[in-house]
Amino acid sequence: MALLEVRNLCKSFRDSGKAVHAVNGVSFSLEAGTALGLVGESGSGKSTLARLVLRLLEPDAGSIRFNGTNLLDLDFHGMRAQRRWLQIVFQDPFSALNPRMPVHQLLSEPLLNFGLIQSGEARAKASELLALVGLDDSGLFRFPHEFSGGQRQRLCIARALSLQPRLLVLDEPTSGLDVSVQAQLLSLLQRLQKQFGLSYLFISHDLRVVKAVCGQALVLKDGRVVEAGSTRQLFSRPSQAYTRQLVEASKALSLAKF
Ligand SMILES: Nc1ncnc2c1ncn2[C@@H]1O[C@H](COP(=O)(O)OP(=O)(O)O)[C@@H](O)[C@H]1O
Ligand SMILES: [Mg+2]
Repeated sequence: MALLEVRNLCKSFRDSGKAVHAVNGVSFSLEAGTALGLVGESGSGKSTLARLVLRLLEPDAGSIRFNGTNLLDLDFHGMRAQRRWLQIVFQDPFSALNPRMPVHQLLSEPLLNFGLIQSGEARAKASELLALVGLDDSGLFRFPHEFSGGQRQRLCIARALSLQPRLLVLDEPTSGLDVSVQAQLLSLLQRLQKQFGLSYLFISHDLRVVKAVCGQALVLKDGRVVEAGSTRQLFSRPSQAYTRQLVEASKALSLAKF
């Protein structure tokens, strides 16, 4: 059984009276312990799809089976219980972190909220999480603005992993970062995936970034999947003109080899 099975997912928005079909009949399966890429140009519906999968947004139609449960059947409490297993990392790590919380609190808050640790364990847990993403204890009492963009994204990853989720949705996690910082984060994500047998739904407009982390990928255009396959094959032998364009754009974008 697939960990995540999305069937015929649809979501449209009204934009000055006109309907925009942001996600238009998307289906895919994600096997446990694998990383699936989702690639497409800006506006193709990637973030909408990510938010639908986490039910941060309600779809117009379709189903989302996670570990055998249709998430759309769940009420607020049922969904809250599932949230532990499904976490998201956004592109902008600054807006994702409460600026008034020191790191030890940012990292232990989800665990305390779910009642998974006692307050006396919070500090040690935060320190463990920092180490996991390659940061040291000197950061425990600092605030998000005292970290670089790449470090802040590491904090978001640590916080998302604190609950030991089964699935991590990563929406352009490295897009705002310098190429070298991007490469370091990608290798961290690869290592964490292997270490914990994590499953990723990894979103990027850059096919080369997706290829660094994912074996398989979907190509999204105007809210529809236009091509799917191994990232190696999509990169070297794309069957759609749109995918070829993404490959060319990606080669131009990425100055470093991953
Ligand atoms: N809340 C919203 N209201 C209106 N239109 C939206 C909203 N969110 C997304 N859209 C539109 O849906 C389409 C897909 O957007 P998005 O999912 O953000 O794409 P991507 O992440 O691939 O850049 C775009 O045309 C965008 O303008
Ligand atoms: Mg987006």
